[in-house]
Amino acid sequence: MSLPLADRRILLVIGGGIAAYKALDLIRRLRERGAGVCPVLTRGAQEFVTPLAAAALAGERAHTDLFDRAEEADIGHIKLARRADAVVVAPATANLMARMATGHAPDLASTVLLATTLPILIAPAMNVRMWAHPATQRNLATLTGDGVRVVGPNTGAMAEAETGPGRMAEPHEIADALEEMLGTGTGGIGFLAGRGRAGPLAGRRVLVTSGPTHEPIDPVRYLANRSSGRQGHAIAAAAATAGAEVTLVSGPVTIPDPPGVRVVRVETARAMLAAVEAALPADLAVFAAAVADWRPAAEQGSKIKKDGSAPPALQLAENPDILATVAGMRAGRPRLVVGFAAETDAVLEHARAKLARKGCDLLVANDVSPAGGVMGGAANTVHLLARDGSVETWPTLDKDEVGRRLVARFAQVLGAG
Ligand code: C5P
Repeated sequence: MSLPLADRRILLVIGGGIAAYKALDLIRRLRERGAGVCPVLTRGAQEFVTPLAAAALAGERAHTDLFDRAEEADIGHIKLARRADAVVVAPATANLMARMATGHAPDLASTVLLATTLPILIAPAMNVRMWAHPATQRNLATLTGDGVRVVGPNTGAMAEAETGPGRMAEPHEIADALEEMLGTGTGGIGFLAGRGRAGPLAGRRVLVTSGPTHEPIDPVRYLANRSSGRQGHAIAAAAATAGAEVTLVSGPVTIPDPPGVRVVRVETARAMLAAVEAALPADLAVFAAAVADWRPAAEQGSKIKKDGSAPPALQLAENPDILATVAGMRAGRPRLVVGFAAETDAVLEHARAKLARKGCDLLVANDVSPAGGVMGGAANTVHLLARDGSVETWPTLDKDEVGRRLVARFAQVLGAG
């Protein structure tokens, strides 16, 4: 049987923290699994471990200085950033995370991180309070929004005799997360491989509704709307990438299922409510579906015929409000319930009222006027409203990007709660 990381080359950026000593063990673990490891040490890292030790364990040269003329001549930081399958940053210090999040590149390690387009996995390690600081959490949200994967930090005793989250994940956990990211592990990236996943939503259960509902009038006709399901599906995909176990309850859509997500297909609002209730409990529930507010009061068993008389009148009945039902649950309510509001005018005013009426924790208002990003389109202009009255307005973004940023924010809220 071949090794899980056979023929993979990993660029290992070692940051400057006490956990750097564990990065040496990580080199061994990665090599045991078949990977080639190219170490890059920050100046801070060299206070804790020597380039020589890293090079000896990697069996190849360790890189340290951006302005090493010999190095620039024979390799160059851009080549270094390309000549691998993935980048692992371990330990990822608060400082290194801040540089990555802002694109500040004063040394070789951060220049490589800025120049690379490879998948990146970071293993944060820092003091508990530095980890909890809003600046670090903001940087974390930016990085996960940029698609960076995260493993750890673990909770436990730290070098400064403090306890809490901040310890770097163990080398074997980092190696597992890397396999997961590269899809080389025995479990693959499927839903059932949720155990042991890395990322800011690792170990969390997430429920997402998406798409329109179809409300039958008779066997051939139905009431529907223009929802494509793109935004809800993008959120489900981003949550899976962030390590969550995701169930997506989707109305009828023509877009593909997101990878690594359990998909439950439904047609009507009532079936969607039943599927949502069956999928609970969850830590986070995101109601992105454009559920039909009404359905024909009675579904005709056979096709309604044109018989030359007046057109038939459609009697409508109100559909259950799935979001309000779940947000109002007394027992087993998800910790974070997120609603959507698609509006064409007075977006914020309507959204504020909806947030209060539905009882959710956050509301994503999307402007579906022609100027904001027509319903069913690829872009979205969103405002994020919280219960405390705060409103964030994001620029018009691709729906995948909106999904990633939303998931990063949700993870931040769950992590802080
Ligand atoms: O009331 P309105 O349809 O504008 O509310 C939108 C929000 O409520 C969305 O999050 C949508 O998924 C949710 N909703 C629901 N069930 C309904 C109607 C809306 O979950 N019947």
